[in-house]
Amino acid sequence: MYAWHDGGDSYTVVSGRLRPVSSDDPQTRQDTTTRDADMITAINTDRLVLRNYQDRDAAALLEYRANPTVHCFARERLGSLAAAQRDIREKSGDDLQLAVCTKDDDRLIGSVFAEFDQPDTYGVGWNFNPTFGGLGYATEAAIAFLNHLFHDRQARRIYAYVEDDNLPSQRLCERLGMRQEALYREFISFVNNADGTKHYENTREYAILRKEWRQV
Ligand SMILES: CC(C)(COP(=O)(O)OP(=O)(O)OC[C@H]1O[C@@H](n2cnc3c(N)ncnc32)[C@H](O)[C@@H]1OP(=O)(O)O)[C@@H](O)C(=O)NCCC(=O)NCCS
Repeated sequence: MYAWHDGGDSYTVVSGRLRPVSSDDPQTRQDTTTRDADMITAINTDRLVLRNYQDRDAAALLEYRANPTVHCFARERLGSLAAAQRDIREKSGDDLQLAVCTKDDDRLIGSVFAEFDQPDTYGVGWNFNPTFGGLGYATEAAIAFLNHLFHDRQARRIYAYVEDDNLPSQRLCERLGMRQEALYREFISFVNNADGTKHYENTREYAILRKEWRQV
């Protein structure tokens, strides 16, 4: 269970979604007081807050989505602030797509996300602004996110696909305690080669079970 009440902003669950609490909105006010058992609000770590995307995140999102550094995000390239704003509007109601922000100034520095596979498995991913790389932020966010999935969403198994040449993401999986379970040869194609043929990725699968997860 996580709660965030910081700098005048509060978050609560409304109709199963993370929502900012407005003191003059009867719907959210009622939810705050009557649905404490459901509250996941936002996720706090020492240095970070994981929360739903907000309109104000658009410029910071564009910073790292305009020039993807890995092939798997090539198709998610954002070409303008308007495209970033549209992307945020699409994701802002999804509690499995979270903005990772510095706690001090609520600045978006990266993203963590998950896909739910029935009945109890999640595939996870992350994408961070390289300006904030090498400081342990992605690790800190991913620990909190996996903790949330295992404990608040009762995940039994969490996996991640990582391209064979993506060493930073592999190290992140390993810091989380995930084990490499497979290497799929020419698993998927995100980009084309110079001659127009598909470029296929060799993809690793990492995974961890709830019973293996540390208590954070
Ligand atoms: C994958 C990705 C999130 C990893 O970012 P990162 O900066 O290496 O990860 P962290 O922020 O956790 O920083 C960890 C590094 O900082 C160092 N570090 C410094 N201070 C630290 C601290 N307080 N806590 C933990 N690590 C710290 C670690 O030693 C580590 O360095 P190393 O990997 O050389 O050993 C990032 O490269 C990224 O977003 N890439 C583009 C998108 C992508 O590839 N997504 C995954 C697709 S499968």
